[in-house]
Formats: sequence, C-alpha cells, structure tokens
Amino acid sequence: MTITVIGSGKVGASAALNCGLRELDRDILLLDIVQGLPQGEAMDINHQLSERGTDAIARGSNNYEEMRGSDYVVLVAGVGRKPGMTRMDLLKINAGIVKDVASKIASYAKDATVIVVTNPLDPMTYLALKTIGAQKSKVMGMGGMLDLSRFKSFIQDATGLSRDSIQAMVISEHGENMLPLTRFSSVGGIPLHDFVSKEKASELFEKTRKVAAEVIALKGATVYAPGNAVATMIESVVKDKKLVIPVSAYLQGEYGVSDICIGVPSVIGAGGIERIIELKLDSSEQDVFNKGVASVKEAMKALPT
Ligand code: 2OP
Repeated sequence: MTITVIGSGKVGASAALNCGLRELDRDILLLDIVQGLPQGEAMDINHQLSERGTDAIARGSNNYEEMRGSDYVVLVAGVGRKPGMTRMDLLKINAGIVKDVASKIASYAKDATVIVVTNPLDPMTYLALKTIGAQKSKVMGMGGMLDLSRFKSFIQDATGLSRDSIQAMVISEHGENMLPLTRFSSVGGIPLHDFVSKEKASELFEKTRKVAAEVIALKGATVYAPGNAVATMIESVVKDKKLVIPVSAYLQGEYGVSDICIGVPSVIGAGGIERIIELKLDSSEQDVFNKGVASVKEAMKALPT
C-alpha cells in the first residue's frame, strides 16, 4: 500500500507529514516535477518521523511511474493563491496541470482513492474525476474540511468553549460562496444558536469565508490546516471510520443538481464517498448553495475536455 502525494510544495509536504505522523501507511511517496524538492522534503519528513518512532517512511521522486498501484493519491499539484487572488483566478493554469497529472493517475493508479486539493477546488475535482475515469465515490475534493476547521476555530473564539465539543458543517463551493451552516453546528450537541446570537453567527460565517485570504496576505500560503485536513480524510478511508464530513463530491440529482462536484456532507469510509447526506436547507442557505453551484458551473465551462 502507498499514499502518493503529487505536488511537493508546502501543502503537499504538510499532507505527507500529517499522514506519516498518523501512520496511515508505511510508504509515503512525494512526487514533483521540480528536481530535488520531493527528495529533500521526504528526507526532512523522515527525520521527524524517525525521531517520533513512527514506522511510516517517506520517499521522494520525480518519476510519476513510481505511483503505480498506490491505494491513495493526493493531488496537490498546481499553483497556489497569491495575495489578492481568488481561488478562481487559478482556473486556467491549474486546469492544464490537473489534467496532465490526472491522466498519469489514470495510467498508474486508476483504482486509487484520490483526494484533490488544487484550486479552484470544485472544478479541479470534477476535472480529475472525468480525466481519471474513476467511479464517483473514489474522487473527492478537500475544501469543506478546511473551511470547517476555520469555522470551529471562530466558534471557539466566540464561546470560549472547548474545541473538542464543537461540531460544525461547511458546505457548497470552496470559494466565495462557501456556506458555513450555523443551523447544523453545535457545542456539546447543543445548537450553536443557544451560545451565540444570530448576528454573531453571521459574523463567524463571514470570517470563515474570508480568512484564507487573510492568511495568504500575511504569510503567502495556507499550509498546516490543509495538510491536516487531507490526513483526516485519508484516515477515514484507511480505517473505514465513516466520518461525516464535507467533501467536494460528484452530484447526480442530490441537492437538485447534477454533473458537478461541490461540497456536501458525506460519509467517508473504505469505499471512499459511501453516502451523500442531503440536508434540508432553508431559503437563505439554498440561495448561497445555488450561487456556489452557478459559480462552479461557470468555471467548468473553461475546463479542457
Ligand atoms: C485555503 O482555503 C487556499 O483554498 C486554500 O486555504
């Protein structure tokens, strides 16, 4: 078994490290076209894993054939957001990269469970799914998990209560129309609205939507939270945990839309996306979700065929 991470920049390295720290697989392969980068990252990661007594071993390569037979593939290749850019600004350049990398996954690891991370996340997940030609349950995008980690952090800020007690859900586009669902979020099983006013909840919602841009403006990229979110998704598959988490999934009629990948609550287990959970959205939630769908559909028009 192997976890292959394609793209060995900061997010790819963080994903590999987090998978290693959790011992999700003994073999973690970092790939990149940049000579030396995956090898160097693998060495550095190994030195940390070694000191921790962890028996996951990272290796780096520039040869994509080495992913042959991998069970899990993380697709992070592409250009990241720069300060002032939206995720959609990356569409054209990253579409070419994702198409190329996804065709390599089709050649060498067609049966793998694939986690897409490259932005704009939802159109790239769709492009990867179609290019690989995999079953829809096997390709999922990591966006909602990251948004959710931020939403939880803001709920903790506002309530002062343990992060361990906080449950939250963020769906729709991983982009300008993400939808933090305050109505489906809770602390210790008690609705969030019992702890914060409607106005405060809207403020947390807005902060969640905007905070990635703030991190990027300050330090150039988001790194640790995405790497951890990828590992959480892979862990749920490896251990068949059946976590209920938001992922960008291919919809065929769910939420009233078809032929699109977008963030929805899903059950993640050994079979990949084992079930999509359809929430009854109220009219304002549905409105944001519909905007997310429209935005992703518009972006999909620019995808290579
Ligand atoms: C993030 O939300 C940039 O999509 C990336 O951190």
